[in-house]
Amino acid sequence: MSKRKRKTGTMPPPSIPPVEAGIVSPIRLVPANINKPPYALTGDPGNSISSLVRDGDEIKRMEKAGEIAAKVLFEAGSNISPGITTDKIDEIVHEMILSFDAYPSPLNYRGFPKSVCTSINEVICHGIPDSRILQEGDIVNIDVTVYHEGVHGDTSVTFPVGEISELDIRLIKETRKSMELGIEAVKPGRPVNVIGRAIERHAKRNALGVVREFIGHGIGTEFHSSLQIPHYYDPYASTEMLPGMTFTIEPMLTLGDPSAQMWSDNWTAVTRDGRRTAQFEHTILVTEHGARRLTVLDDGKAPSDLIFS
Ligand code: MF3
Ligand code: CO
Ligand code: CO
Repeated sequence: MSKRKRKTGTMPPPSIPPVEAGIVSPIRLVPANINKPPYALTGDPGNSISSLVRDGDEIKRMEKAGEIAAKVLFEAGSNISPGITTDKIDEIVHEMILSFDAYPSPLNYRGFPKSVCTSINEVICHGIPDSRILQEGDIVNIDVTVYHEGVHGDTSVTFPVGEISELDIRLIKETRKSMELGIEAVKPGRPVNVIGRAIERHAKRNALGVVREFIGHGIGTEFHSSLQIPHYYDPYASTEMLPGMTFTIEPMLTLGDPSAQMWSDNWTAVTRDGRRTAQFEHTILVTEHGARRLTVLDDGKAPSDLIFS
């Protein structure tokens, strides 16, 4: 066996030590009186059949689901500090979502075993909450999705754990900014690829990578509908934006090469080079003039607005 030489030169080292899987706690229960999405029992969401455009009543309900998701994400974020496990965050998120008479959308979605995704350091997305303790210097994305009155709201923030490095502060700040620029690019009549173009441009200017394997998605009565929103410029993503469309914008930016690799749990996606990555996500509605963020608190602010701003 030959030893692989570590690349030297301009590349800073990977995130050390690598994130390791912990123990996943038993499945958390959801009371019978809570309205569940069709996949809650089977794990199978089936094929996407919903229209790309929501009616007035669906939009009203999505505002409510979005607000619940934002409140839960805000609460989860305020619990983050060195010493807490991601399993404890899952418990807090699970209980709080139930208290709103809502269902934690990730639970049993394609068999996902927990109620929230927690993605640490080089984990790009879909990290499974477990017994790992958050450590000073970690960065952790908390991705909350709730299902309430038949519709979903999906939003995430990457939080610092205690004091973090200048490099990681910059990664988080510019990833959030790229999401904001993606949202600002939304206008009815334009193709959806203007979103990825804006995000990619900002990433390039800051020498950050853009993950291509995971993209934004239509959302509403279904968690993931057929509408695809790449976070890089894709000339073929030519679907025209229309008032009433609802989808997520959720760029994942990386300090190094953005290529992804999957853990054997078939969920946890990490960067191949082991370098760190951040993500922010909002569910948005296309309006007559542009975009409105649905995953906000009742004052119109989002948990992400409070991060390094
Ligand atoms: N919330 C994630 C997204 O932004 C999806 C998580 S799917 C799960 O699309 F099964 F991992 F929960
Ligand atoms: Co999403
Ligand atoms: Co999400």
